[in-house]
Amino acid sequence: MSATIIDGKAYAAALRIRIAAGVADFAEATGRRPGLAVVLVGEDPASSVYVRSKGKATEAAGMIGIEHRLPADTSQADLLALVAALNTDATIDGILVQLPLPEPIDEAAVIQAIDPDKDVDGFHPVNAGRLATGLPGFVPCTPLGCLMLLKDTLGDLAGRDAVVIGRSNIVGKPMAALLTQASCTVTVAHSRSRDLPGIVGRADIVVAAVGRAKMVKGDWLKPGATVIDVGINRTEAGLVGDVDFDAALAVAGAITPVPGGVGPMTIAVLLRNTLVSAARRDGHPLDAASL
Ligand code: GUN
Repeated sequence: MSATIIDGKAYAAALRIRIAAGVADFAEATGRRPGLAVVLVGEDPASSVYVRSKGKATEAAGMIGIEHRLPADTSQADLLALVAALNTDATIDGILVQLPLPEPIDEAAVIQAIDPDKDVDGFHPVNAGRLATGLPGFVPCTPLGCLMLLKDTLGDLAGRDAVVIGRSNIVGKPMAALLTQASCTVTVAHSRSRDLPGIVGRADIVVAAVGRAKMVKGDWLKPGATVIDVGINRTEAGLVGDVDFDAALAVAGAITPVPGGVGPMTIAVLLRNTLVSAARRDGHPLDAASL
């Protein structure tokens, strides 16, 4: 038996069509388009590619995309001044400061300067706290995209055993919070966990977000498990995930490929969060759950 391949690219494309329809409704009702500001400091090539594709996707969804490209030697004070200006700019609904930021800028200080109600990345501690306590806020794009793929694959997640491998603020921790909220029994595993194969082997759902090529072996998996691979590792053999995909195919029930799985979901959810932000700020009715 071979696992079902979870087609994140197709899911993301369909989500972007629903978002574009929501944007058109919003624009008709309010007379303006949602605006997303993306800030890139320095010329990291990978970040530069991400920022360009975010800009294109924003425009394709009918939103206004504003790019701020600042030199690598930008001072923290100048960056904070830009964030403050975006916070008070009524045409901007979402602010994303691309990470990582160059030294010596203090990333935490910059994230905390963003208005939590424009923090479409969901990185501000206020939004992390809202997620942890079940209040409405913004959820980081990658884990929310993973949750959408899981619900689309499995339906109701209640009662399932889930393992999240990785405990980053961007993926692992918010992913665990989302799965807890969906009534899974959640284990967060990480580099110091003992007996990772044993922990993974009990899980109905495995979310791998460690950034180590093919670290999760096929024979660790419980037969029929659903596997979400967040890893994007550049190797001599090309892009590979955190899961040994070929070996996992024979054991898993369903699995995301790399590329074409989780990756395309991140930008689609960023657009979703920006539309949700615009609707909240203008009191425009939007059924976010239907997106
Ligand atoms: N760098 C890599 N991924 C992300 C992301 O989702 N948001 C931001 N702001 N920076 C990133």
